[in-house]
Amino acid sequence: MNIIEALIEHHGTLRQLYRQAEAKPDVFDTFIQHLVVHHTMEEKYFYDLLEGFNQADHDALEAVNEHHIIEMIIKDAEGFPRDHRNFPIKIEGLGEYTLHHLDEEEQEIFPLATQLFAAKDLDTLGALFTEAKKALLGISLPDLPKSLAAMVPSRDQIVETGPSQSGTARADAAFGLGIGGLK
Ligand SMILES: [Fe+2]
Ligand SMILES: [Fe+2]
Repeated sequence: MNIIEALIEHHGTLRQLYRQAEAKPDVFDTFIQHLVVHHTMEEKYFYDLLEGFNQADHDALEAVNEHHIIEMIIKDAEGFPRDHRNFPIKIEGLGEYTLHHLDEEEQEIFPLATQLFAAKDLDTLGALFTEAKKALLGISLPDLPKSLAAMVPSRDQIVETGPSQSGTARADAAFGLGIGGLK
């Protein structure tokens, strides 16, 4: 899988996570984690090199600046109370700006990059991206056996039975990934 194919595949995950986060704010943390890692890897394995082509340097800088704007929107949303009735609007604002950015990359920047890069370089970068993505996002914990899983109360039940703690755990959750900290 070359770097363009790998980026487009991860865009599909980002679109899916955004749709899920709109319906279920609990997915918001996972959406943000994928988005921050995507930007970090996309800049290291794609935009840093694309800036070296005269025909593409402006587009590359514009896209990286859009990452910066998205990261500011993330910071704003992270500081907003999760249990506030307007929190879904924060998710929507972040998602709409992000979707616009993904569409622009796929329709304008990736076709240009495909013409500029040598095929073997696209393949090499794709392998690096895939390896980094697996290391940063591919870790999954084994599922509990069904008998034990049945003992775990759902998050909704916890909120209903413990109003004094409602939303506290999620509001304090750390993502463990600083903006741009992995570059
Ligand atoms: Fe991007
Ligand atoms: Fe992207």
